[in-house]
This record gives sequence, C-alpha cells and structure tokens, in this order.
Amino acid sequence: MFSDPWSANDFAECVASGVPFLVAERRAVVAGYVVAHCAADEGEILNLGVAVAYRRQGIARALVERVLEALAGRGVRTVYLEVRTSNASARRLYESLGFGEVARRAHYYRRPVEDAVVLRAAIPAERGSAKL
Ligand SMILES: CC(C)(COP(=O)(O)OP(=O)(O)OC[C@H]1O[C@@H](n2cnc3c(N)ncnc32)[C@H](O)[C@@H]1OP(=O)(O)O)[C@@H](O)C(=O)NCCC(=O)NCCS
Repeated sequence: MFSDPWSANDFAECVASGVPFLVAERRAVVAGYVVAHCAADEGEILNLGVAVAYRRQGIARALVERVLEALAGRGVRTVYLEVRTSNASARRLYESLGFGEVARRAHYYRRPVEDAVVLRAAIPAERGSAKL
C-alpha cells in the first residue's frame, strides 16, 4: 500500500500518545485508518490509508471528515499535511475537502525520493462541537 510504510512501533507510539487515530472497520476487518496530531490551534494529518480491497467506497473521505471534526473539537483551526507530488488520488481527495497547496518540500520522501506538496485547510469554528 505504501512504498515506505510506518513501522508497528510508529503506530504504537501514536496510540500511546492519545492523538486522534480513527479506524474504519468492515465486517471486523480494518479497512482504513487515519492518524493526526495537534498543538494549540494547528493540526496535522500524519497518515491515511485504505486497504486496496476497500478503496473508492468513500472510506478515506469519511475518515478525513471525522478526524477534522476530532481536531476541531480540540481547538484546531488550521490543518496541514504532506503528500507525494505524484499521489493524484490523495491530492484529489484532500482538494475536494478544502485543502489547498501552500508549499513544496524538495526530496522530502524516501523510497523513492520525491518532493512533498504541503496542503492546508481552515476548519470553520462551528465544526468543533464534537470532542472525539
Ligand atoms: C488515497 C486513499 C487514502 C483514498 O482512499 P479511498 O477510500 O479509496 O478514497 P475515497 O473512496 O474516500 O475517495 C475520495 C476521493 O478521493 C479521490 N480518489 C480516491 N481514489 C482515487 C483514484 N484512484 N483516482 C482518482 N481519484 C481518487 C476522488 O476524488 C474520490 O472521490 P470520488 O470517489 O467521489 O471521485 C487510498 O487510495 C490509499 O490508501 N492510498 C495509499 C496511501 C496514501 O496514498 N495515503 C495518503 C497519504 S497522504
């Protein structure tokens, strides 16, 4: 799914630190997940993935919408993320959710080396009603 995936330890550290970490289940199978973190009024989506068999069913869109609500509930007003320049699927998803390009980071990724596009979205204040 990823050319340079997170390790089990990376996921374990996120769970232990209490950051927003949502999992989508289909018939007791993990179909997708999203991990974010935040500090003050800024948040970042750190990782998003949907298993190949479950793609194009709206799971990633639902996960991102829910994690934006979770971040809003923690007082976040601006959310950032990085994505590979070649990742057209993810870029289209994020753009449809209101993210726009604000910067590029040269050679940000490994395996293979590639630039990152930095995307940013503002969260409307009324979105933060649910504290997840
Ligand atoms: C990117 C990814 C998370 C999308 O997951 P998904 O559950 O299939 O996405 P959704 O079904 O919610 O699709 C939402 C939108 O994303 C875009 N999209 C998703 N897959 C796409 C594809 N293969 N081609 C073009 N657009 C695509 C579309 O705009 C889509 O909306 P639409 O179905 O109404 O056209 C998934 O392909 C994935 O896990 N990729 C590998 C990991 C990755 O790239 N993660 C993101 C790192 S930042």
